[in-house]
Amino acid sequence: MSVSTVRGAHAADPTPGLEAHDLSRAFGDVRALDHVDLVVPRGGVTALVGPNGCGKTSLMLVLASLLSPDTGHVRVLGVDPAKDPRGVRRLLGWMPDGFGTFEALTVREVLRTMAGAHGLGAGAARPRVEELLHTLRLDPLADRPARVLSRGQKQRLGLAQAMVHSPQVLVLDEPASGLDPRSRLELRDTVRALAAGGVTVLVSSHILDELEEMCDRAVVMDAGRVVASHDLTAAPALLRWRVGSLDVEALRAVLAARGIEATDVPSPDGDWGRRGALDVDVADEADAHALLRLLVDHDVPVFTFGPATTGGRLEAMYLSATREERS
Ligand SMILES: Nc1ncnc2c1ncn2[C@@H]1O[C@H](COP(=O)(O)OP(=O)(O)OP(=O)(O)O)[C@@H](O)[C@H]1O
Ligand SMILES: [Mg+2]
Repeated sequence: MSVSTVRGAHAADPTPGLEAHDLSRAFGDVRALDHVDLVVPRGGVTALVGPNGCGKTSLMLVLASLLSPDTGHVRVLGVDPAKDPRGVRRLLGWMPDGFGTFEALTVREVLRTMAGAHGLGAGAARPRVEELLHTLRLDPLADRPARVLSRGQKQRLGLAQAMVHSPQVLVLDEPASGLDPRSRLELRDTVRALAAGGVTVLVSSHILDELEEMCDRAVVMDAGRVVASHDLTAAPALLRWRVGSLDVEALRAVLAARGIEATDVPSPDGDWGRRGALDVDVADEADAHALLRLLVDHDVPVFTFGPATTGGRLEAMYLSATREERS
């Protein structure tokens, strides 16, 4: 089947790649998932981001039917794992953040064993395993025992394991952790190529600039809940701009007179006197230019003016969604 046929097929079929409805899961007092609703469109790459302990791994485990929720349900390409667990296992590939493998087996044997566990006969498993060894640059390691692999090499083997049965949905928990720069670029290219072929990918990471290059959408979690969801291919959302002034109260007054909301930036240690900085949301660079003109026209002594984060849109969205939740 060609890539365009697959694309045509999923374009016509509105069934999402992954769905979660009203998922909750507690561990004792900890609400790891708190009424989570999530729809991951088919044939794209969705980032799952959020602070440590916010519930990303728990959500992915439930989606991979490895953890049962207290309430709610999931669907994988429309299939209910409670009714058809084998069907879901066929459709979904899972890469955990901590990697466990058959340590005594060689890399090639690990992949052949996994292929067998997914029901691939030897005739289909052998070429598939060789293909994956090549794609993930594991061929020089193919005959080494899995236990001797470095952390990054184990990550690549983990991805190969998740992909061995050519699943239509991939759930990857921090796949880039431990990877060297070249392997990260290759991971990005592998994931983009899979999505171009119609595979649905949900990927978690803390490395936001890399995710931004890899993903079409981003879902932000905080404290067990989904707090934001954005289409990264759409027009840019608001940009956060940082304005430093020798007289922060004069700056605040001009912004307030125009009804422009501003957030205080904590001053570094030391005596800052009247100096200070405020963050302001602008629509785009032209809006930022208009703001600068306004401040200069009102004789506000501006000494710094520019984007508040050095990172990209995903980082800005993450900071704004998680900050709002805490305040
Ligand atoms: N098996 C478990 N037993 C007890 N508590 C758990 C268990 N698994 C997760 N938790 C708790 O549930 C919450 C969510 O954990 P989870 O691993 O889903 O977070 P995460 O977003 O993946 O974090 P990280 O970014 O650090 O990987 C945490 O408070 C964690 O301590
Ligand atoms: Mg995790």
